Amino acid sequence: MDDAIAVGPTEWGETPGVGPWEGPPPADPRYDPELLRDGDRRNVVDAYRYWTREAIIADIDTRRHPLHIAIENFGSDANIGTVVRTANAFAVDTVHIVGRRRWNRRGAMVTDRYQRLRHHDSTAALLEFAAAQGLHVVAVDNVAGSQPLEQVTLPRECVLVFGQEGPGITPEASASAELTVSIAQFGSTRSINAGVAAGIAMHAWIRTHADISRAW
Ligand SMILES: C[S@@+](CC[C@H](N)C(=O)[O-])C[C@H]1O[C@@H](n2cnc3c(N)ncnc32)[C@H](O)[C@@H]1O
Repeated sequence: MDDAIAVGPTEWGETPGVGPWEGPPPADPRYDPELLRDGDRRNVVDAYRYWTREAIIADIDTRRHPLHIAIENFGSDANIGTVVRTANAFAVDTVHIVGRRRWNRRGAMVTDRYQRLRHHDSTAALLEFAAAQGLHVVAVDNVAGSQPLEQVTLPRECVLVFGQEGPGITPEASASAELTVSIAQFGSTRSINAGVAAGIAMHAWIRTHADISRAW
């Protein structure tokens, strides 16, 4: 790959991204001729500048972690975009949307284009998928009987299941989980935002299982 494309976190200047490619365009098929010509303003790390979407997905596929995220979507979908964006940042294998198929993509900031997503009509269907894939099911909610996330080691091959604003995790998901973890709280609120909770739990998995030397 050309040295001109530095590997590092996205740098947000006054104009995010890079302008048209300077000099003879590279022949590498990962590069997109239109982006080389017009510049690349997408929300991608610099390592992927000018790459086609397909090339980026193929590369992330080599970096994905055996971590799955599921969010129940029987009512409000306000947090799913945030969950998808964070899952993309941590190269999660798949985000599972359980219940309603539709969700508001705005919070995902187009990261959903690079993230594997899978829909399940019901919690039972998600649990069936997890069993078939040999994934440990971990419910994340501050309910009776949960163990502090801060004091457990999350299993490597697992699906973390999150509930919704209001009702929280369904009794079905809760009953089927082999482990339920809660995030320690110290203030007055009963709970934190599901998108924030998902970010904290994903990062707990990353701290335990990811090879940090491979991070951008
Ligand atoms: C806003 S909470 C709703 C319900 C919450 N159980 C209650 O009693 O208010 C929505 C989801 O965020 C996640 N969540 C929020 N706070 C959490 C915490 N302290 N520990 C673990 N998960 C939490 C859970 O997945 C939960 O189902």
